[in-house]
Amino acid sequence: MGSQTQISSFAFHKIRDYVHRTAGIIIGADKTALVTGRLWRRLELFGFDSYEAYFSFVSSPKGAQERNTMLDLLTTNETYFFREPAHFNFLRDEIIPQQGYNKMRVWCAASSTGEEAHSIAMVLADTLGKTNWDILATDISGKVLEHARTGVYRAERINQIPEDYLKNYCRRGIGEYEGMLAVVPSLRSHITFEQHNLLNAREDDAQFDVIFLRNVMIYFDNATKQKVVENLLRALRPGGWLILGHCESLQGLNTGLTTVRPSIYRKPQAAAAFKRFAS
Ligand SMILES: C[S@@+](CC[C@H](N)C(=O)[O-])C[C@H]1O[C@@H](n2cnc3c(N)ncnc32)[C@H](O)[C@@H]1O
Repeated sequence: MGSQTQISSFAFHKIRDYVHRTAGIIIGADKTALVTGRLWRRLELFGFDSYEAYFSFVSSPKGAQERNTMLDLLTTNETYFFREPAHFNFLRDEIIPQQGYNKMRVWCAASSTGEEAHSIAMVLADTLGKTNWDILATDISGKVLEHARTGVYRAERINQIPEDYLKNYCRRGIGEYEGMLAVVPSLRSHITFEQHNLLNAREDDAQFDVIFLRNVMIYFDNATKQKVVENLLRALRPGGWLILGHCESLQGLNTGLTTVRPSIYRKPQAAAAFKRFAS
């Protein structure tokens, strides 16, 4: 058994179908090497001699935990601090000045290991101070969220963090933590990391001023994108902003949002609010 074990088209189809149904993620029909490359060690660990046998276990009640592991292995969690920095400048220079004195609530959807949420937190702390803001950061993967909650990263991952933010909001590890960096607790205390699947609407009625939904829509087909955006828009306050990754757009979707710049969208102010001023 090894990375060369062939996957049958039946097992490949079952796995692709499961990932699509559960997370909305499309695995291309030509991605057999990706699937086997990421899963063969699991077959080895459990002693299965075929992907059919592995998937049959994963689908059984006993395979509940392994289902999550399989999903974790088949999703892409790539992220880094201040990825696509123009969005953080937009937050600082355009959104925050329009916020007035209201508490700012940001939802970082598909946050992966937390670098994005911590980058947002640095901008909010720097511009708004210690209070008056909070962040909900969510991801489908419990594993990446576990990492995110620690706020500890390898120091080589931090070169995009502006120097003054590094000084104010990060601490370099010493001794056994040499080569690591920790985000300060005063920043982390503003962030709640929560497991959430974007295919579902959130159950509470929290409203957010800004939603970051970056570098995840690329994995979805149009029907899934429409559903995900509808779920998110229920939680975006009138006048709030939705920010996608630079390579992503809402083209072809029915959203009612206004394009502010490529990848940045705004929800119109509520009609009712206008009506109050009309007479
Ligand atoms: C490439 S990372 C993007 C991280 C970050 N937003 C960024 O731009 O750097 C994509 C993340 O989306 C998450 N994801 C994929 N499908 C999801 C779903 N249906 N619901 C919630 N998160 C999902 C993955 O677990 C992964 O952590």
